[in-house]
Amino acid sequence: MSKLKEIQRRRTFAIISHPDAGKTTLTEKLLLFGGAIQVAGAVKSNKIKKTATSDWMEIERQRGISVATSVMGFEYRDIKINILDTPGHQDFQEDTFRTLTAADSVVVVIDVAKGVEPQTEKLVKVCRMRNIPIIVFINKMDRPGKDAFELLDEIEQKLFLRVTPLSWPINMGPAFKGVYNNFSNSLTLFTPGKQVIEEGIEINDLQDKTVDEYLGDDADQLREDIELVDGVYPEFEVDKYLDGKLSPVFFGSALNNFGVKELLDNFIQIAPPPIGRNSDTRQVVPEEDQFSGFVFKIHANMDPNHRDRIAFVRIVSGTFKRNTYYHHVRLDRKLKFASPTAFMAQKKSIVDEMYPGDIVGLHDTGNFKIGDTITEGELLNYRGIPSFSPELFKYVENASPLKAKQLAKGIDQLMDEGVAQLFTGKHTGRKIIGTVGALQFEVIQYRLEHEYGAKCRYEHITLYKTAWFRSTNEAQLKDFRARKANQIALDKEGREVFLADSQFSLQMAQQKYTDIEFFFTSEF
Ligand code: G4P
Repeated sequence: MSKLKEIQRRRTFAIISHPDAGKTTLTEKLLLFGGAIQVAGAVKSNKIKKTATSDWMEIERQRGISVATSVMGFEYRDIKINILDTPGHQDFQEDTFRTLTAADSVVVVIDVAKGVEPQTEKLVKVCRMRNIPIIVFINKMDRPGKDAFELLDEIEQKLFLRVTPLSWPINMGPAFKGVYNNFSNSLTLFTPGKQVIEEGIEINDLQDKTVDEYLGDDADQLREDIELVDGVYPEFEVDKYLDGKLSPVFFGSALNNFGVKELLDNFIQIAPPPIGRNSDTRQVVPEEDQFSGFVFKIHANMDPNHRDRIAFVRIVSGTFKRNTYYHHVRLDRKLKFASPTAFMAQKKSIVDEMYPGDIVGLHDTGNFKIGDTITEGELLNYRGIPSFSPELFKYVENASPLKAKQLAKGIDQLMDEGVAQLFTGKHTGRKIIGTVGALQFEVIQYRLEHEYGAKCRYEHITLYKTAWFRSTNEAQLKDFRARKANQIALDKEGREVFLADSQFSLQMAQQKYTDIEFFFTSEF
């Protein structure tokens, strides 16, 4: 197959949702369609249940699972689909943000009863920053939930998405009868508890008597609903969807395998093939001859005796080849990889060649950090993996004086993996760890001890936010640096950040230093 064909038949996407909306269940059903798994229940839930937040074994078990499920590739009707897994637990939200940079589109799963939940809002916001095409899947239609029109309103208001339903539910909960596909004019009927894939029944005219035969009393309601749908929502246009300006909505029940095939069939038709990426020098497109890609995730080995890791690289352009020298741009070094891995049907296997859109797993002994670019020699750096100002902070101190070196190395490597962010007081030299969730502090402490033989202790710090800052007004910068000397730290790249101890002090600084810009993501 030609390289162009290989590119065009790839779809790389992520499923995002608030925990419990049905992401794992939907993933599993998609894999079943692709023949990637044979039985339901084969996809282990990659989520740390709320009750298990302090359970170390659980975290370790999760780390094992999340390597296996980091990317799930399968073939469906000649299309190579790569599903990027995103952690469900909100403490690992930043992992999800980074994973989204490797996706070309997303499917958002929403629980019909719960509607738009906080984590969905945050994740969709990040998708909108890049105008990623979004498909919405309203799940759990077999359960009582919100009225479909109200729910679509809520999605438009809270997620700032323009939507158009491509399928429409006929009732819900125990009375759920199925969906009418407004795009293909077909009716798909739901039989509770029956996981057989129902084929759509073609309907030429909704006024037709056969519709009454299938739906009984619900037929008139459907006619009314569809009239309203046609009047209220815009016609679906693929180009608008691809620009991130219009999201098609499907209704179904992942658990009952209902509406999933419809979602998948539409997905492979409309979802974008691999999209190029912006670098600091130019826009790179997949069709280019020369290989390039970026690291969006690093996973430490499960075996604490081997500190090696897997770096997950999204291929942006060219063909990645085994045993070929590539250029690690940040280190300005040539590296080659003897056993690059692909993840097909939940199995890892060594591959010789991979194409844009694919995710290749590279064995790493500490050369990579998140955001690194590899190329065939060109000096470019992919953009788009910002760090966000963390929400929780603690001083980290060495708890075993003889192990200072191990501690420093451990912290360094964990930060490269993107577990948390490190700030070092410019004057005090004290190290501050910032995270988005409380769980990471425990993970760091545990992993430092078990993988690096170093013990750390946390100390309280009153810190509201960190803000990167810059200004062209040298006088203001000088004054700010002098007055806030004890509140300025350096991030891992050596850039200055302001450590604001309260919302008030941040506001005061913003008001006083009008020529200084403060940023809450690292990319500005
Ligand atoms: P997540 O990955 O988004 O966190 O959600 P997950 O798929 O684990 O689903 C959360 C719960 O919702 C699961 O039940 C799952 O069985 C259920 N679920 C998913 N899709 C549907 C659906 O279409 N209808 C109904 N009624 N339930 C659905 P659980 O009891 O929490 O877990 P489990 O013990 O069944 O695994």
